[in-house]
Amino acid sequence: MTAGKNWSVISRLNHWIFGLAMIAMLAFGIYLHEFVPRGPDKGLLIGYHKAAGVLVLIFGLWRVGYRLFNGFLEDASPMPKWQSVSAKVVHWVLLISVIAMPLSGLIGSYFGGHDIDVFGLFTVYGAMEPSKATGNIFMGMHGAFAKLTILSLVLHVAGAYKHHLIDKDDTLKRMVGRS
Ligand code: HEM
Ligand code: HEM
Repeated sequence: MTAGKNWSVISRLNHWIFGLAMIAMLAFGIYLHEFVPRGPDKGLLIGYHKAAGVLVLIFGLWRVGYRLFNGFLEDASPMPKWQSVSAKVVHWVLLISVIAMPLSGLIGSYFGGHDIDVFGLFTVYGAMEPSKATGNIFMGMHGAFAKLTILSLVLHVAGAYKHHLIDKDDTLKRMVGRS
């Protein structure tokens, strides 16, 4: 961990770009799962969800690698140990979800035997011998991990605003470069 005033520009860009991407993908996935009836339109939308998810996976490796390589900042202000530890646990769950969410979907889709056309850029081919059972296990993990990610995100955002509005420290400010 390093002491420092603000997160670097790259850290901030990574955080907000992937933050938005993750929230958009979660919302898209839930919309697909809960509200779109089966049919050709759903197939098309799932295709976009998968293609966007493959791009999140590729660029997410950079986002997570950058954090692992550069480490975290020290807490912005003194706080009880349980708060500091839970904030870090949540950061780790969110970092892991940047990879685990798309990877579980990708492996589920692979065993389902489906090819993924990534916006005409390249194709990720499905298994030659699909296994519905294995595919379902990974899609189950995809759904379960989505719930864990959403729970972590709620805690994460609540924590950020608690620091900003109640503790009035620089936790949120230093993630927007204004500390
Ligand atoms: C839109 C709502 C969000 C807000 C207000 C927010 C706020 C913050 C703040 C203030 C920090 C700095 C904490 C500190 O300095 O101790 C932070 C760090 C972090 N946030 Fe968020 N965040 C949001 C969304 C997300 C999302 C969707 C993810 C999931 C990928 C995420 C993942 C992380 C991670 C992993 C860190 C640790 C530092 C890093 O690697 O960027 N955040 N967040
Ligand atoms: C950041 C990346 C991703 C996020 C956050 C995400 C999120 C979600 C969520 C929240 C759901 C609804 C799950 C449920 O309620 O059970 C979902 C469904 C799904 N996702 Fe993803 N996903 C991502 C990437 C991918 C990738 C890369 C693939 C495949 C290559 C994929 C394939 C699917 C499929 C097939 C469904 C099922 C849709 C349905 O049941 O109607 N996802 N996703």
